[in-house]
Amino acid sequence: MGCAPFPGVIPAYRQDMRDPDAPRLPSSPGFWRSPLRGPWLTSVLGLVLLAGITVLFVTGLVSYAAYNPGLSPVNDKTPDKGILGFYLFAWPTRPHWLYRLNQGVHVTLGITLTPVLLAKLWSVVPRLFALPPARSLAHALERISLVLLVGGGLFEFVTGVLNIQLDYVFPGSFYPLHFYGAWVFFAAFVAHALLKMPTALRNLRHLREERNDLVSPRPAEPTVSRRGALWFVGGGSLLLFVTTVGQNFDGPLRRTALLAPHGGGDPGSGPNGFQINKTAAYAGIDPAETGEEAWRLVITGPAGTVRLSRAQLAQLPLHSSALPIACVEGWSTSDQWWRGVRLRDLAALVGYDAGDPPDLFVESLQRHGAFRSAALRANQVADPRSLLALYVNGEELSPDHGHPARIIVPAAPGVLNTKWVARMTFGDL
Ligand code: HEM
Repeated sequence: MGCAPFPGVIPAYRQDMRDPDAPRLPSSPGFWRSPLRGPWLTSVLGLVLLAGITVLFVTGLVSYAAYNPGLSPVNDKTPDKGILGFYLFAWPTRPHWLYRLNQGVHVTLGITLTPVLLAKLWSVVPRLFALPPARSLAHALERISLVLLVGGGLFEFVTGVLNIQLDYVFPGSFYPLHFYGAWVFFAAFVAHALLKMPTALRNLRHLREERNDLVSPRPAEPTVSRRGALWFVGGGSLLLFVTTVGQNFDGPLRRTALLAPHGGGDPGSGPNGFQINKTAAYAGIDPAETGEEAWRLVITGPAGTVRLSRAQLAQLPLHSSALPIACVEGWSTSDQWWRGVRLRDLAALVGYDAGDPPDLFVESLQRHGAFRSAALRANQVADPRSLLALYVNGEELSPDHGHPARIIVPAAPGVLNTKWVARMTFGDL
């Protein structure tokens, strides 16, 4: 019933329940009693969403590009995308915080916009029930686009929120669902925005509502103004923002991320005391395989295969890089000081010129979870900050951060910074 969140409308509906002449069906304009609905409120919410959802769509597409999906099937969770992958490009390594910013914005903005999306849907709900369903072919097409718009929007927000809450209850893999859902939603969104923009801009100039199918012919007593309603929605967005954005910062701010399952937990203290996604136990890492005696890194290239212990790796020229961990779920850490062997120097051990290394295929000891292997493009291997890290913040990597050794590459999504590395195969993919 279109009465929440404003109490003034509730008595009006109760009164209607007792009034035998009151409209009973939501298809009747008189059924909707809220005095707040109208083109002005809908237009303001619509224009906020126009900007916000465009940013969501672009950052989402960029998130997919960051996987370098064209490089190898292991990086691509949406292989059947066809022409929808037209925009893909070789993911850069500069600036090193690029993916951290992109995914932080995508997820934090998505959550922050949720009250605006719900308020917008509330403001137009009478239209969804209006009869006849189609007055003309154009009207029918517009209504079909509305179904794709509303359905697509709810689908994207729901799958997105479920994904970051680690509730993988959707009917299939998140990646193709959210990716294709995004295109359907955004296409309907663009059509809707183009159709409605002139009206929306005109409505903004007129706070006093002209007659319109959103304006209730039998408005209940107002208990809040339209601006008050916007403050209410804005307050909801602000609350979600301040209880989410903290997942992008270390220290006390992270504890404010009350809604983020991975974002706000306590990563412990000390050099290895920063956020992780999967623990060694969750990934099925057997400590017997990571000990100094047992573990050997296997590196393969045109010059053959090299097996190195951790002690031997630590004897090679070591370099340091200050790089963040940026998770696809939207949380991230600030820059950590990693120390290890440059990937390009490892390529040189198996027959490549360190100045012109090839692509790299990395396999982990990990037994559970996604991304047990990943591919890195030559530009990522060539970057002097890209390391096979053995230490972090001056200390050996902890098991949960990928001991004996892990990949760390600037600007790459967390899932491509493979932990518990077992094999590295250099060669163009
Ligand atoms: C509350 C809202 C949203 C949340 C929490 C959310 C969350 C996410 C997350 C976590 C990812 C990365 C998934 C991964 O790589 O593992 C993602 C990817 C993406 N999102 Fe969203 N999203 C939201 C809304 C949207 C909307 C409204 C759109 C479109 C307009 C969108 C478009 C995309 C696209 C295209 C991708 C790339 C999918 C892929 O990598 O296969 N998202 N989103």
